[in-house]
Amino acid sequence: MSYIVTATSGHLGHLIVESLLARGAAPESIVATARKVDKLSALAALGVRTAVLDYGNPETVTAVVEPGDVLMLVSGSEVGQRVPQHTAVIAAAQAAGVGRIVYTSAPKATTSALVLAPEHKATEEFLIASGVPFTILRNGWYTENYTGEIEKARQAGEIVASVGDGRVASASRADYADAAAAAILDDSLAGKTLELSGDHAWDFAELAATIGTLIDSSVAFRNLTPAAHAELLASFGLDEGTVGFVVGLDANIRDGLLGETSGDLARLIGRPTTPLAEGLAASV
Ligand SMILES: NC(=O)c1ccc[n+]([C@@H]2O[C@H](COP(=O)([O-])OP(=O)(O)OC[C@H]3O[C@@H](n4cnc5c(N)ncnc54)[C@H](OP(=O)(O)O)[C@@H]3O)[C@@H](O)[C@H]2O)c1
Repeated sequence: MSYIVTATSGHLGHLIVESLLARGAAPESIVATARKVDKLSALAALGVRTAVLDYGNPETVTAVVEPGDVLMLVSGSEVGQRVPQHTAVIAAAQAAGVGRIVYTSAPKATTSALVLAPEHKATEEFLIASGVPFTILRNGWYTENYTGEIEKARQAGEIVASVGDGRVASASRADYADAAAAAILDDSLAGKTLELSGDHAWDFAELAATIGTLIDSSVAFRNLTPAAHAELLASFGLDEGTVGFVVGLDANIRDGLLGETSGDLARLIGRPTTPLAEGLAASV
């Protein structure tokens, strides 16, 4: 029986493999996969097996998955393509006799108005309907999503958004990766859906203050109306779709859709989640 992890050429997948090893999984029990196996030399050097697995090519799933394996399906990064990709992977893994699939979803994916929820909802529903034992990890926001704000704050002395006093319960990618590793190794989590988020929900005034401390400079948070935010983003040359996406996400934050703190993540990893300041400092 093997633990097969997808998208290990990406940040989260790579960290999941490292967490599996840290949690005591034997290197030879792990198959780190990616579209391009030549991106996996650092993981191969840790003793894990590597293989090609491309969401757009289900035969690559059939070639890797063996009966009883646990498949960690990290959600794809090609927004708009994810439903056909994820469902093709799940169907191929099921045909190969996969023992359980662990999937990284989004907060309250089946009921949330979050702009990113529909592809995760469709994937969750397909996975559950397949009858394959599953564990769904509804990952909240990564702290690393805000790394880019540090340079902007350094240059402008402020961070700008249209989130109002909305809060974000972010955690570091390493926290979510450790949770994934814990879930992969624990068959008793079959049939469970976990809402994973950071222990503390911060607002953007706190984000600005935290970045200010990090760069040893005063940083303010300037809140805009959605219309003014859209106008500002368009003035930077962003296309209409991207502007709508960013302003829509800020509206989701304003509405509290990324601010819930269930405690599931800390419980699963057996320690508090990484604080905002520490997570940002680590990503600089
Ligand atoms: N919760 C959050 O805040 C948040 C933020 C951003 C993303 N996400 C989601 O979490 C996932 C993992 O995050 P991350 O930080 O690791 O993202 P990342 O570093 O951008 O990595 C994305 C990974 O997806 C792989 N991928 C894309 N299309 C694929 C395909 N057709 N077949 C196989 N692999 C494919 C990429 O492979 P290549 O190296 O071949 O491109 C890469 O390994 C993302 O894909 C996205 O769904 C969540």
